Amino acid sequence: MEISEIKNLFFQETKEAQDVKALENIRIKYLGRRDGLLTKVLRSLKDLPIEEKKRVGPAANGLRQEIEERLGLRLKELTKESSRISGIDLTMPGKKVKFGHLHPLTLIENRIKEIFLGMNFSVVEGPEIETEHYNFDALNIPENHPARDMWDTFWLKLTNDQQPITNNSREPLVVSRELLRTHTSPMQIRYMEKRQPPFQIIVPGRVFRFEATDASHEINFHQVEGLMIGEDVNLANFKYVIEQFFHRLFSPHVQIRFRPSYFPFVEPGLEVDIKLTDNKQQTTNDSHKPLAAGNKSEWLEVMGAGMVHPKVLGGVGYNPKYVQGFAFGLGLERLAMIKYKIPDIRLFYSGDLRFINQF
Ligand code: DAH
Repeated sequence: MEISEIKNLFFQETKEAQDVKALENIRIKYLGRRDGLLTKVLRSLKDLPIEEKKRVGPAANGLRQEIEERLGLRLKELTKESSRISGIDLTMPGKKVKFGHLHPLTLIENRIKEIFLGMNFSVVEGPEIETEHYNFDALNIPENHPARDMWDTFWLKLTNDQQPITNNSREPLVVSRELLRTHTSPMQIRYMEKRQPPFQIIVPGRVFRFEATDASHEINFHQVEGLMIGEDVNLANFKYVIEQFFHRLFSPHVQIRFRPSYFPFVEPGLEVDIKLTDNKQQTTNDSHKPLAAGNKSEWLEVMGAGMVHPKVLGGVGYNPKYVQGFAFGLGLERLAMIKYKIPDIRLFYSGDLRFINQF
């Protein structure tokens, strides 16, 4: 077949091709390795007399290039056409898949658990509805004790058919009203009633306070309680554990300070402050400015703690002569606010995606 014939035929057929498949068949018909019409011509070039070769050669090679270009163009036309018909534009960039992710409170709780598990603590949990006994009395906060004012409480109403809850069997049977736990400390009692030392646990959980909300107060928030009891567990052990904890959580730029304080269920009681320290020095000019939460140069109170009160130990049937230990309680939101520089505690529960999506 003459080159010009092949060319005409090819362009005719390509124009008529209606889909990608037909186009592929045309490609094979002309350029197919074995029987392509043009391929055969190209292959026969070497047997032609030199004059013929000079004439046919360039023409055949030129046609091959033309065919390839034309096939490419027609393929684009056909794919556009088919995606127009199916309503899908295959040339559009893909849509990003949205992944879910963890809430900042979950992130920090996971990290805290990880650190304490690494120091051989166990993680346990307790009920959010508590009795007055576990939340207060067993923690050495009897009714009318002024320290009860530290915890504004949501009391639960008894329905008519409900029996009041009674104390555990060590106490005389008295009514214990129900409430939403104001701290995770009642789990100290529940755990000690069932176990013998030595042990070390942490108790993450939700707590409730009946108080006005503002940038640093919420009616419900989270705490992590800690408790380590043994024959000779002492404040030096506490200091080590807590220093390890904060260094790992904020590693390594954090200073830690212990201050005497009062909680009815510990003696002595103390509070722990931390200060985030940056590599770069704070300039003296900054010192007079009011400091926002999370500002690097401010001491922030993050934890209550102490040696568990002998009355508390005795109340669960331990002999305070032979066992002792430390307890602590920290606020999860407060730590998260410091770690992630969050200015307002209410953001955690706002459900505002602009906030949530930053983590
Ligand atoms: N339960 C206390 C609170 O909610 C915090 C606390 C202080 C827990 C001292 C402790 C502790 O275990 O020893 O304010």
